[in-house]
Amino acid sequence: MNRFIAKTVLVTGGGRGIGRATCLRLAQEGAAVAVADLDLAPAQEVVREIAATGRTAVALEADVTKATSVEAMVRNAEKALGPLSVLVNNAAATSASTVEATGEADWDVEFDVTLRAAYLVMKSVIPGMAERGKGAIVAIGSVNGRVYVGNPAYSAAKAGLAMWVKAMAVEYGPQGIRTNMVSPGTIRTQNRSWTDRIARDPQIFEKLARWYPVGRVGNPEDIAAAVAFLASDEAGFVNGADLVVDGGLTAGMGPFVQEING
Ligand SMILES: NC(=O)c1ccc[n+]([C@@H]2O[C@H](COP(=O)([O-])OP(=O)(O)OC[C@H]3O[C@@H](n4cnc5c(N)ncnc54)[C@H](O)[C@@H]3O)[C@@H](O)[C@H]2O)c1
Repeated sequence: MNRFIAKTVLVTGGGRGIGRATCLRLAQEGAAVAVADLDLAPAQEVVREIAATGRTAVALEADVTKATSVEAMVRNAEKALGPLSVLVNNAAATSASTVEATGEADWDVEFDVTLRAAYLVMKSVIPGMAERGKGAIVAIGSVNGRVYVGNPAYSAAKAGLAMWVKAMAVEYGPQGIRTNMVSPGTIRTQNRSWTDRIARDPQIFEKLARWYPVGRVGNPEDIAAAVAFLASDEAGFVNGADLVVDGGLTAGMGPFVQEING
């Protein structure tokens, strides 16, 4: 598919995991991609991977929790690649595992990177997209924003993000900007919380597979495919949606159903 020919995309947290897979997918479909990350080295590596396929990409060092850094990120992305057609608000992180373990500082850090950053990044692309009367924004949410499966502050922030996406969809839909969310289940990445859990139990993904009706946890490419759909013109009538990509995890409680069925 070539749904992103002549389109320009900015992906936050594009250096690793879901962000990286999204950059590669959108570039593969023709997009010029700005790969923004707190860590420049992995973003540069993604740019090298994209360049090797003959597509255009630029690496940007940015901290999405800082307004000045966000403004510079958007300015530099547009300077390098031209006006942005698509924003993928992906960067986030979590480490506080329980309510008891969530200190005040953890709460602030998790809300900053998950929710406040989304506010900063989305607001910074609105003026340009509104002026052009066209744009697509995809936020990466989480099943954590829908049912409680650990990481309480992060989960509360993702639930807040879901409402922010709806607010954006309603207020900017009339100006040609569609805003949607993809809510992943467990995805095999090396983010902070999975790295900690894998250190405790190297088989964690295999163990969790039993909770997933499709019999496996997800891959970053599963999410990138959903992002690509929502960001594309094919999704022209999709605005304010939350596309759950979780192999059926939150559709019900599989192990419970097995238990009652004997
Ligand atoms: N992996 C999962 O199981 C899973 C499940 C549901 C939702 N998600 C969501 O998917 C998104 C990506 O997660 P991932 O697992 O790919 O994570 P990851 O840690 O593999 O990648 C995230 C990237 O974001 C960057 N980043 C972190 N803080 C940043 C900041 N302040 N400014 C700029 N960049 C920053 C990191 O450097 C990293 O490269 C997040 O929004 C996460 O909440 C992940």
